[in-house]
Amino acid sequence: MKWTLLKSATCLGAALILYYFKKRCGGPVCRCFSRLDNKIIVITGATSGIGLVVAQLLANRGASIIFTARNIDEGIVIQNYLRAATKNPKIYCKYLDLNDFASIHKFVLHVNQACSTVDLLINNAGVFFHPPSETVNKFDVTFQTNYLGHFLLTELLLPKLAASSRIIFLSSAAHFLAKSLDLKTVAAFDPEAVGSSARFQSYANSKLCLLLYSKNLARRCKERNINVYSVDPGSVETSIYRHFPFLRNPILKALQRPIRFIVVRTPFQGAQTVLHCAVSPHVSKETGLYYSDLVSKTPSDLSQDFELSTQLYDCSRRWTGLV
Ligand SMILES: NC(=O)c1ccc[n+]([C@@H]2O[C@H](COP(=O)([O-])OP(=O)(O)OC[C@H]3O[C@@H](n4cnc5c(N)ncnc54)[C@H](OP(=O)(O)O)[C@@H]3O)[C@@H](O)[C@H]2O)c1
Repeated sequence: MKWTLLKSATCLGAALILYYFKKRCGGPVCRCFSRLDNKIIVITGATSGIGLVVAQLLANRGASIIFTARNIDEGIVIQNYLRAATKNPKIYCKYLDLNDFASIHKFVLHVNQACSTVDLLINNAGVFFHPPSETVNKFDVTFQTNYLGHFLLTELLLPKLAASSRIIFLSSAAHFLAKSLDLKTVAAFDPEAVGSSARFQSYANSKLCLLLYSKNLARRCKERNINVYSVDPGSVETSIYRHFPFLRNPILKALQRPIRFIVVRTPFQGAQTVLHCAVSPHVSKETGLYYSDLVSKTPSDLSQDFELSTQLYDCSRRWTGLV
């Protein structure tokens, strides 16, 4: 009897410790409950992971959501799931491939026709550790998906954004790994960049570019009262790791599972800072900042280089045919 009690107490203690660490690693939860009725939200890549949870959390607050998918059949299944789960019929899936400028123009045309204004743009879609390949527009796939496609989308949607609207970029702490940025080479597809460090670098560069662009955008949009936020969601268990060799190998994946279960966030946990920047009145006076765990943090020195952000903006306009 005494032995059974001791065993139960040990199990309970271990479960509590596990719960404590899982909660702690998961980060804080957004405690702002403002409603979003009559707000129109555009979110890229909400077919899985963080984007899907963010779309659901925002739809729960009454917003109209336009989310994007590359596989439209899969997208419609998700649209129906979200409508049923949130009891909000104003959720629409539209086709968008960030790796094709024509698709971005077509998507923007649709938004322009369907909506009077947009109140929140969440640039969420992204890839990590993608095998190097060239997009139809002749850029590196990671660079265009994570940065350049979102640059074009944001620039084209800017006239549609209402005063006091918000723009959120999903950045990453990985941007700290980018120690320099060569604008002559960063956008180009490099067939040699197959190794792990090259793929990491390509991801880090794309997230640095998002931060540089968000600073530039924040300056330009200040007068219109449009606020810009960059978010690091933390390390989150999603399908973004599908190309990562350590998680593609089933044995290595199984070995890492217990530790990943504790330290890697769930998509719900990863969505919290995005939600905070989307709804919290506390950030309504802030723009151009980088957030993690619901508070603004200092990003890398390079990401705050004014000259570099202006040069990147000029190059991006040329690359996307805006000039
Ligand atoms: N998970 C993490 O640990 C982590 C950490 C830091 C930052 N982030 C950032 O958070 C964002 C969301 O990532 P996640 O972890 O939720 O990944 P995820 O589950 O893989 O979701 C990524 C989304 O992006 C979409 N997408 C990919 N390529 C696209 C393209 N060419 N055009 C349009 N959509 C495209 C995907 O759609 P398909 O279904 O069509 O592929 C999917 O909906 C990313 O920007 C990522 O860099 C994630």
